[in-house]
Amino acid sequence: MKKDLSGFIDSGATLKFGLGKWNDAKKSLLESNNDFIIITSKSCKRFISDIPSRYILVINEEPSLKLIDNYFYEISKIISKTNELTFIALGGGSVIDTAKILSLMMGNNIKSSDEAIEKSSENKISEKSKIICIPSTAGTGAEITPFSTIWDKKNGSKYSILANKIDREIILDPEISISLPEEITISTGLDSLCQILESTWSKKANKKSLSAASLGFEYLNKNLNNVISNPSDIKSRQDMLFASFLSGVSISISNTTLCHSISYPLTSILNVPHGVACALTLIEVIKFNSFKKEGSLKNTFQAVNVKSSEILVKKISSMLENLNYKDAIKPFVEKIEKNIEKILPLTLSSRASNNPATATLNDVEEILKNSLNFYKY
Ligand SMILES: [Fe+2]
Repeated sequence: MKKDLSGFIDSGATLKFGLGKWNDAKKSLLESNNDFIIITSKSCKRFISDIPSRYILVINEEPSLKLIDNYFYEISKIISKTNELTFIALGGGSVIDTAKILSLMMGNNIKSSDEAIEKSSENKISEKSKIICIPSTAGTGAEITPFSTIWDKKNGSKYSILANKIDREIILDPEISISLPEEITISTGLDSLCQILESTWSKKANKKSLSAASLGFEYLNKNLNNVISNPSDIKSRQDMLFASFLSGVSISISNTTLCHSISYPLTSILNVPHGVACALTLIEVIKFNSFKKEGSLKNTFQAVNVKSSEILVKKISSMLENLNYKDAIKPFVEKIEKNIEKILPLTLSSRASNNPATATLNDVEEILKNSLNFYKY
């Protein structure tokens, strides 16, 4: 497949794609006078250790209100006011989201995560320091989305912080994702799959989001199995990064829908990995939309190249089966069942309102219970 990227890149972003692109970019960074703030994870630190920086933040969990406030305090103490600031985010979705939030805070004179949420709701903040995003996982598409997730672990909820203008250099280099463990490859691949499918039935879908989702599905479908059975296959890793990027392009426009909305408390309260949590209700949400709102899966049929909801369910079920999804969700099934009353009231976030068929709490309960029953045995 030939990668035609025109039309998919936001005016505030540039994209470099292919093996060795991160090494090439590093050379020009070494000649720059900017101050670098590096944000990465323990497993990715080795890709970035040779860049001189003002501050290296090695994170191991999703951004939360408290963590962001701590990071911001540490960074504010050491940055110089004279040099231009560049953030380098090399890692998974949490690393990139953390960089995006900190860049927004630094550039818009915001002093706390609460203030960032408030200003974001007024749609007034933009990225004023460049963020170089090098994703290590093929999943969230965080490198291109204008929003970042920040978790309120205490209350089991999450907020979205939105930049009304982005300033990114995106580098998709398969070398960075080649040693990704199987568990994370599966979980992040599932996130991409859900993002792509949800974007096709979202009420906000348009021509551009649908064309990104269709191409994203094509790449995902061709490579997801291979990337699990041949994890060091550079070509598959590269194409998965591309699929994930396209899932980010599509949800930047359409946003996600009911599967993501239901997933949030599963992740924040029960620590179910994001992609695994989203995929739990995927089949039941397809059935729900097909039953409740005629024609709502028309775009999905086109993107997945099927003719009916029955065939769509079969196709997606077999993709999940090939990924051994049952094994991924099994350790959490009992825990979710036990906590269902606690989780339910938190499942209908704003993302649910993008779903074509309106879901009530009773609907969500049925969707969740049917999904759990299916994966239990
Ligand atoms: Fe997601």
